[in-house]
Amino acid sequence: MNKYLPKNYRKNIVFIAAVCAIVMCYMQCSPKLSPSISSVPNTTPQADLSKGLKDYFKDDFLVGVAVGSRSIRTDSALIIKEFNSVTAENDMKVGVIHPTENTYNWKNADDIVAFAERHKINIRGHNLLWHQQNAEWMLVGPDGKQASKELVLKRLKEHIFTVMNRYKGKIYCWDVVNEAIDDSQDPTVMYRKTKWLEIFNGPEFIDAAFRFAHEADPKAKLYYNEFNSEREVKREKIFKLMKKLKADGVPIDGVGFQAHWSLDYPTATQLRTALDQIVSLGLEVQITELDLTIHPRPLGAPAPTTPPVDPGYTPELEARQVAKYKEIFDILRGYKKNIKAVTFWNVTDRGSWLDSRGGGSAGDAKPATPMILKAYPLLFDVNGQRKKAYWAVVNK
Ligand code: XIL
Repeated sequence: MNKYLPKNYRKNIVFIAAVCAIVMCYMQCSPKLSPSISSVPNTTPQADLSKGLKDYFKDDFLVGVAVGSRSIRTDSALIIKEFNSVTAENDMKVGVIHPTENTYNWKNADDIVAFAERHKINIRGHNLLWHQQNAEWMLVGPDGKQASKELVLKRLKEHIFTVMNRYKGKIYCWDVVNEAIDDSQDPTVMYRKTKWLEIFNGPEFIDAAFRFAHEADPKAKLYYNEFNSEREVKREKIFKLMKKLKADGVPIDGVGFQAHWSLDYPTATQLRTALDQIVSLGLEVQITELDLTIHPRPLGAPAPTTPPVDPGYTPELEARQVAKYKEIFDILRGYKKNIKAVTFWNVTDRGSWLDSRGGGSAGDAKPATPMILKAYPLLFDVNGQRKKAYWAVVNK
């Protein structure tokens, strides 16, 4: 230190140097965080913050998430860091993308596809035929009555060709038909009673949709997508339909298990049995809409009529959810040869589609008016932070 400097000035320099040393030491010691993960605290000692779900599962399957044109903006950093597949939560559904015969709403779907391409994320298409969020015009004839089978087939073909052609080479896989099987516990009722079933007087619309899809994009993987697929009665119905489609030479590649699950469903045996059946037919599997509500409802329970009391995300419910998530992923990893992707339905617990269903999941009776009961069903909490369940699934 220069002894000719005034004494006070020397003291200041010593102080500044000490502060600089502390700051530099801190910068050396702390891990280099990219902006997207700097907000994720290192809550567990074994956490490797440089990795996302897609990296933890890189030798197993793709890890995807359902997105909308809003979440690709608000949650973009998290999506890019954690996932390598996306599904449009609503924006490619027939009634949304093709609301009238001569109107296509491409904007949101295009935005999602552009976002995914920009970040080298795979894209699943959802979906080409469903009784919900359906384009009702497709089923109405020029006289205002139910359209003929021939007219519906023509419109279905046009729809499938137009949408699949637009995203050819970009969307690698499509849910061609969604939820065509009856959800009841009655084994004798095979197909869901919809206008599609009525107009075709049978399940021929399923075959037709797959054949059109294959013609439109022979390279795309084509899936049948369903919920409650692990419940014994429905499982057998799905198995029967898959055997029939295969026997009839219908171009189908795989089955999507929606996986709207809960703390006590499915059991390990239910899940394994359902997976084994599909795999035995030489079909691929994807888990397409995974979430795990903390509000299990008994099968067939009526919808609540008054808003349920919200217990919140209690430590007890959290522990059960962590255990269930772990059990499920341990099983899924064991099927990595057959499971091509596992997709979560929504990004964080801040906004799950389940929240407005009065605590029910897919297949549960829906309350007449939406009742908010937060389901906390995902791996990221309301602030986008990794939950304990996250670490439970990534740590083998
Ligand atoms: C849900 C969306 O998440 C909601 O935003 C929408 O209001 C209704 O549809 N099975 C499916 C999905 O195949 O398309 C559904 O998505 C959830 C159940």
